[in-house]
Order: sequence, then structure tokens, then C-alpha cells
Amino acid sequence: GKDKQLIRDSWEKLGKNKVPHGIVMFTRLFELDPALLSLFSYKTKCGAVPDCLSSPEFLDHVTKVMVVIDAAVNHLDDLHSLEDFLLNLGKKHHAVGVKTQSFAVVGEALLHMLQCSLGASYTTALRQAWLNMYSVVVSAMTRGWAK
Ligand code: HEM
Repeated sequence: GKDKQLIRDSWEKLGKNKVPHGIVMFTRLFELDPALLSLFSYKTKCGAVPDCLSSPEFLDHVTKVMVVIDAAVNHLDDLHSLEDFLLNLGKKHHAVGVKTQSFAVVGEALLHMLQCSLGASYTTALRQAWLNMYSVVVSAMTRGWAK
């Protein structure tokens, strides 16, 4: 319905420019929780935020995150079809030391990026629509922490 349309319309342009928007998101993420930087050490080349944001491995991860968001937007009518993929993705994040609580901070960083990019189109309804979709993604990933 209306929520899906808000998400699709707002993602149309953003999804075509994944890396710059992903960088805005991760810059915000590290402002909110600088400790997350250490999980991206890629054999310790990424000591500080600016180094990290220009490391190719890190930019690959930024792209990977945006591709998953893109997949969610493209599967709004059947998000459950991504369930197995997201559960496995959660397992991988468990293995690299991510805490499930950090996904709330990632969500804030995502909203920040949307707000920066959308300006006046960033409404309460749009924010809520995105939060709802993001929470489906995160709850599926979080199942990957279970034994
Ligand atoms: C893989 C960290 C959030 C999508 C990884 C890897 C690390 C990592 C260290 C393994 C190395 C690599 O592939 O670059 C984190 C941290 C996060 C975070 C610290 C936030 C606290 C997310 C989110 C998504 C995501 C929110 C998507 C919704 C991926 C994907 C991979 C990956 C697709 C590749 C998995 C594979 O190899 O099959 N992440 N990640 N990450 N991450 Fe994240």
C-alpha cells in the first residue's frame, strides 16, 4: 500500500548511487558508535574513520549493505523470501563479533542518510515505513544469533 510506495519512491534515486549514500550512512554510524570501527579492521589497516572510509574492502562492505537494502525494497511484497538469506547473513555478523543491539544504531544511521538525501520528502510517515521494513530485515538477521 502507501508505505511500500513511500519506500520505493524514496529509494529510486538513492539506490542508483549506493556508495555515496552508504558512506553518509556509515559516517553517521561511526559518529554514533565509534567502537564499531574496530569490527572492520580487515587486518588492522583501518585504524581511523577516514582511512576506513577510503579502504576498498570497507567500501565493498558499504556496497554490500546497500545491495541488501535494495533487495529488501525490491521484495517488499514478499520480504519473507529473504528470510534464509538474512538468517545466514546474521550468522556471519555474529561470527565477526557484531552485537544485535548495534543494528538499532545502524537503523539510526540509515534514517539519518535518508533525511540528508530526501530533505522535505523525509516525513514521519516515510520514516515509519522505513523503520518497519528495516525491523523485518533486522529481526530475520537476529535469528542468526540463536543456537
Ligand atoms: C559482511 C561488519 C552491518 C551486510 C560483513 C563483514 C563484516 C561486517 C566485518 C565481513 C567482511 C566483509 O564481507 O566485508 C558489519 C558491521 C555492521 C554490519 C560492524 C554494523 C554494525 C551490516 C548490515 C548489512 C550488512 C546492516 C545489510 C543489511 C553484509 C553483507 C556481508 C557482510 C551482505 C557479506 C556476507 C557474505 O560474505 O556473504 N559485515 N556489518 N552488514 N555484511 Fe556487514
